[in-house]
Amino acid sequence: MGALLPGEHVVDVGCGAGLDSLIAAQMVGAEGHVIGVDMTPAMLAIARASASETASANVTFHEGYAEALPVVDGWADVVISNGVLNLVPDKAAALAEMARVLRPGGRLQIGDILVQRPVPESAKRKIDLWTG
Ligand SMILES: C[S@@+](CC[C@H](N)C(=O)[O-])C[C@H]1O[C@@H](n2cnc3c(N)ncnc32)[C@H](O)[C@@H]1O
Repeated sequence: MGALLPGEHVVDVGCGAGLDSLIAAQMVGAEGHVIGVDMTPAMLAIARASASETASANVTFHEGYAEALPVVDGWADVVISNGVLNLVPDKAAALAEMARVLRPGGRLQIGDILVQRPVPESAKRKIDLWTG
């Protein structure tokens, strides 16, 4: 994760179990705030439990989709997202949402998979290539 400054507002898109959100919350400090968004209630339950265990009062977790973020326009100084965009069917909608919630001049930090040419159908059908 790149630098986050004290007091900044951060949205973690597809926060999963919330580890990155909790790290971001430490970085922005008590004056800042982090909103973690995920579509999976089971992941949010883990994230909320971890926030409670670590007494992280400046992070909240919300159920929602990357394609329709439950965050008001221009709220975020930084949007972070790790390992999510490759899973989202409508990537253009998710990127548009990230742009919407960012303030003008805000920053986007994405960790994800990029392909530089189309994946062959034969590889798409080989399930061993897609599983750990
Ligand atoms: C590989 S995990 C990454 C979790 C976390 N960002 C991390 O780095 O540990 C992907 C997460 O994205 C969430 N996700 C996938 N598609 C989503 C979508 N369209 N909207 C919101 N969350 C989504 C999943 O529920 C899952 O928790």
